Amino acid sequence: MCGIVGYTGRRRAAPVLLKLLKILEYRGYDSAGIAVANQERIDIFKRQGKVEQIGSASLLVGRTGIGHTRWATHGAPSEKNAHPHAYGKFVIAHNGIIENHALLKEECIARNETFISDTDSEVIAHLISRYYEDDFLRAVQKACVRLEGSFAIVVLSSDHPDKIVCARKGSPLVVGKGDRECFVASDLVALSSETDQAFLLEDGEYAVLQGAQPVFYDRELSEIYKEKLRFDPVFDCADKEGYLHFMKKEMNEIPSVLNKTKLSCVPEKDFNDFYKVLCQTEYIHIVACGTAYHSGLCAKYALESLCRVPTEVCIASEYRYRNPIIKPRTLVIAISQSGETADTLAAAKLAKERGAYLAAVTNVKYSSLTRLADCVLETNAGAEIAVAATKSFNAQLAVLYSVALLRKGEKEDFTEFAAYAQKTLDSAEAVRGWTPYFLGAKSVYFIGRGVDYCAALEGSLKLKEISYLPSEGYAAGELKHGTLALVDENTPVVAILTQRSLAEKTMNAVHETKSRGARVFLITSLPDIAANAEATSSVLIPACREEFTPILSVIPLQALAYYTSIARGNDPDKPRNLAKSVTVE
Ligand code: AGP
Repeated sequence: MCGIVGYTGRRRAAPVLLKLLKILEYRGYDSAGIAVANQERIDIFKRQGKVEQIGSASLLVGRTGIGHTRWATHGAPSEKNAHPHAYGKFVIAHNGIIENHALLKEECIARNETFISDTDSEVIAHLISRYYEDDFLRAVQKACVRLEGSFAIVVLSSDHPDKIVCARKGSPLVVGKGDRECFVASDLVALSSETDQAFLLEDGEYAVLQGAQPVFYDRELSEIYKEKLRFDPVFDCADKEGYLHFMKKEMNEIPSVLNKTKLSCVPEKDFNDFYKVLCQTEYIHIVACGTAYHSGLCAKYALESLCRVPTEVCIASEYRYRNPIIKPRTLVIAISQSGETADTLAAAKLAKERGAYLAAVTNVKYSSLTRLADCVLETNAGAEIAVAATKSFNAQLAVLYSVALLRKGEKEDFTEFAAYAQKTLDSAEAVRGWTPYFLGAKSVYFIGRGVDYCAALEGSLKLKEISYLPSEGYAAGELKHGTLALVDENTPVVAILTQRSLAEKTMNAVHETKSRGARVFLITSLPDIAANAEATSSVLIPACREEFTPILSVIPLQALAYYTSIARGNDPDKPRNLAKSVTVE
């Protein structure tokens, strides 16, 4: 994963690099570093930990530099494995995975070259150094030809202290142009903090940043013209606004996000095409990862029950290698908050290659997924900074439910849901009192049936992700087929019950766990269930159309994960080992 940046121009590079890296921290925060070139030398400053650990690097002198924020793939998170990496006259920062790094490293070692880090990336600097005669760009190109896997790289050379060479294959890289200055970054969100003019580098292309104007080359190094993209700021605000954590702020934004929901298409002119495809479609495939996968599961229940369109929801990393059957009139919906998740992108690409119409549900304008899709259904949830997805999940549901209603020929006004969500947020505060029962638990179960089962899966993922407690989301009817053996008097069980027709059935599972000593916590829209004396505690949420209840029932589950995380002394915004956007497979 990782975020990479570069700057050359009229200002001192270090403060600009640090600012851009801070924005890209969602891509990884195991370690961070920058390298700044001046006429005498290239200075490198790197540390284990978040970008704030390299704050003093802002003093480095020079107007050209590169930077990196890391999510470790090869080599533990440590200072020696932090980027940038140097060899000879070259310093590089890399995002991606070099799959043939072991072979290339052996080759270098046979030439008596020594390595400092355990990364797959360091070998890139060695190769560039080997191929360098006097042409910086040519040396980078020759090195790139040897690399297998995915990469976006930015390179400095002490022979050319005012130049950055950039290359990409499979990992994103965008170049920006400002007033007598150039930028490069892993995404447009970072660039949009400095400029509104960008160039999107494609696989196999190279860029040279020097002076005011970037120059682009194809894989044979012939100069090419690239269209300039003028873009609006991607997100106008990424501030905690007085909250202790982004996660809490983002949960509290759910009502306003739902209030804004309006099914629309980017570009708008494509909406008719999308509508036509939607009305004629006979099969829907949804591909996504993590929380976005769970929103796809919720959508399946709505699409099948309201529209009777067979809908398959598939984890993107499985779909891409599964040789899926994509029949004519199949609509593929890729869901991704970031629009950069590598597996989701690969699954979407595969579906498109096989002739499917591709609709993207995403929160980030100009992301890789938006560029791939035939039509983009934006979630407009605003910047989501906390690694644990919250408001983007609710926004994805609002969009996907609107798609189901559009196909059915009904209109739904989600502003009504905004008021319900506010009420749910208020009642969800009660889960703060549940945390003592969860802190020392060996495992936690979330159970439900139908759409409540989908919410249970999401509640469990959230708890694992930020509280580090082992937990499972389970179909309530399935417990007795094995997993019940794990339930004892130390097991908290959270049951979600929002569908009248299934409530008694789910209560059977509740009784079964209760008789094995479990402590039961209920989240329900049914007042009689909320009053059930067997539960340790219950949260009553507003009732709404049954197919759509996860949009509300997930809120107390998000709150439970948040408060448990804090009670365990964790940082809910930046959980260990994770990153906001997973750009490697
Ligand atoms: C959610 O809390 C997780 N951080 C994670 O599962 C996330 O939803 C997943 O990585 C997919 O990300 P995307 O929506 O940006 O594609």
